[in-house]
Amino acid sequence: MAQLEHLKLWYAGKAKNWDLAAYELRQLTNSLAEAAIFYPAVPVSNVTTMKEPLLSIADAIAAGDDRKFAVSMRTLTEGCNACHGSMGRGFIAIAVPTGGQPPANQIFSPSGTRRKK
Ligand code: HEC
Repeated sequence: MAQLEHLKLWYAGKAKNWDLAAYELRQLTNSLAEAAIFYPAVPVSNVTTMKEPLLSIADAIAAGDDRKFAVSMRTLTEGCNACHGSMGRGFIAIAVPTGGQPPANQIFSPSGTRRKK
């Protein structure tokens, strides 16, 4: 779940679809919170480290700032990997998506009916 949300969040931000990005960010935040609740072995400190990049991404989305968005996404991704590493799951290596193609079965550009930022 976190992987798909991370991916979609990236493409939504790339497309400057800030409404969708805000939505995916909420989903991702919830997934991380759930992981912390359902896997007691996950150190809380690893979850709280994610808070700063998540807030930073929220700021970028609110401001429509794509540069800040990209920088914060990189920090967030480092956080994903830091936790995997500390939990013996370093082989689950997450990267900011590099391909130009978003998942092919969803439209990421903001629909014409919404206000533009
Ligand atoms: C607080 C710790 C922590 C953070 C933060 C974290 N993960 Fe994980 N993640 C885990 C653990 C632990 C597992 C392994 C779960 C298991 O083995 O049951 C895992 C597994 C995964 C997997 C493998 C699941 C699968 O079935 O393929 C993916 C993909 C993943 N995480 C993506 C992410 C992404 C993307 C982020 C950042 C947005 C992230 N994780 C942040 C702890 C974390």
